[in-house]
Amino acid sequence: MEIIHVSAECYPVAKAGGLGDVVGALPKYQRAEGHVAKVVMPMYRTKFLFENQFEVVHKGRTHLHNFWFDYTVIKEKTNRLGFDLYLVDILGLLDREKIYGYGDDTERFIAFQIAVLDWINAWQHIPDVIHVHDHHTALIPFMLQHCYAYREKLGGIATVLTIHNAQYQGQTGMDKTVLIPEWDLYKRGLLEWAGALNPLACGIRCAWRVTTVSPTYLEEMRASAAGLEALLEYEKGKCSGILNGIDPVVWDPLTDVYFEDHYSIDTVEEGKQKSKLLLCQRFNLDPRKPLITFIGRLVGEKGADLIPQAIEDSFYYIGRKMNFLILGSGFPSVENRLQAMRDLSRGDYNTFIGYDEGLSHLIYAGADFILMPSRVEPCGLNQLYALRYGTVPVVRNTGGLHDTVIDFGDKNGYGIRFNHATVGDMTHGIWRSVELYNQPQKLYEIRQRMMALDFSWQASVRAYLDLYERMRKGE
Ligand code: ADP
Ligand code: GLC
Repeated sequence: MEIIHVSAECYPVAKAGGLGDVVGALPKYQRAEGHVAKVVMPMYRTKFLFENQFEVVHKGRTHLHNFWFDYTVIKEKTNRLGFDLYLVDILGLLDREKIYGYGDDTERFIAFQIAVLDWINAWQHIPDVIHVHDHHTALIPFMLQHCYAYREKLGGIATVLTIHNAQYQGQTGMDKTVLIPEWDLYKRGLLEWAGALNPLACGIRCAWRVTTVSPTYLEEMRASAAGLEALLEYEKGKCSGILNGIDPVVWDPLTDVYFEDHYSIDTVEEGKQKSKLLLCQRFNLDPRKPLITFIGRLVGEKGADLIPQAIEDSFYYIGRKMNFLILGSGFPSVENRLQAMRDLSRGDYNTFIGYDEGLSHLIYAGADFILMPSRVEPCGLNQLYALRYGTVPVVRNTGGLHDTVIDFGDKNGYGIRFNHATVGDMTHGIWRSVELYNQPQKLYEIRQRMMALDFSWQASVRAYLDLYERMRKGE
């Protein structure tokens, strides 16, 4: 089969979160199963672009309403990512340093989707599956089936939409529908949800199949999906939950390229201790105390606003028996409070505001616990990386966290789970972490259990391939 993934992110080319990790790994393991898997993404001006060799494979000219533009498709020459990587360059629109966050993101991503289809339309053959990810590429199923320019040749291609996060839907005014290449106006209803052009809702309606990144998240979305509950209920027949995997080559404490003190399941205690010492030196923390961390976007869905108070309450109620180290960026109010709290540290609190891939790897290695008080967590990769690095995840019992973390108080358990995204529940999770840290034999057994778990892509790749095959057979 030939599978084309179209995405806004792909590690290591450009990553803002888990979407990048997934699109950087899934195609590699589909390829390993003998399929042709390609990734097409915008050509941002990132480090990867300047450090690698590319060849031009296509040049085209098309339009975004009355704005005509030239685009170029380039391909990474060596296949070093384990799949064919194509970048689409549109001068003035995609050639920016950041992935998102610009006032014209709607125009940027619609132009990207148009260029992708214009290019595929010029191919001599037709791919089997187009797999789109999140709202940035979710108009493609509609465009394939309803835009005059593509429907004749490409309208029969099977499409899958994976929802990594339904909190972000790409809503914009219905006036922006003029940007989509000519389509039958009576199809307007497919584009509209709650009075707005809603790319994610449109993708849910038009894709042949819809997947979410964990089974529990799909279940939860029936009750809470940022306004899309009724639509998901209506379309439930074509929806399924497939848990993400992790790339065990990139995420391996024995070979990780971002730190030096490598370790395996047999040397986990010494290995982690060395990375912990490095972190404690760098961030002025006490290595004798448990190191409790958070890595992620400092936004409401991650429960980031609860962190400052939970840290203050922990120091107050439990005592200064632990260190906290927070890595992330997001809401300015949370960033400011986390930064201000540094003044109160007694060698037991620090924060790094920003995005730092290398530091995140060192933290997975050197931390004892990782906090995930998420209000919404479609899958979550942090806990999976933590498990592989022998770091105990302390998570709210939701979405993918529910599917991957079993509380150590339960049979075969290894993590710490709490039920509510509240300061109180989180502080209780921190208290349990400190108690566990003070039982070294128990912690050792848990680390052994965590590191023996397998969250690689194998099972999920099989599930996606089955899904594609069923679509192709018309099932
Ligand atoms: P989401 O995609 O919702 O942000 P995930 O848990 O799926 O959450 O994935 C987050 C990914 O982004 C992980 O690889 C995590 O290590 C990484 N990450 C998040 N914030 C940062 C940061 N500030 N610095 C480095 N890596 C980060
Ligand atoms: C999203 C979700 C996260 C998931 C990731 C990759 O960003 O918030 O839970 O792990 O996508 O699928």
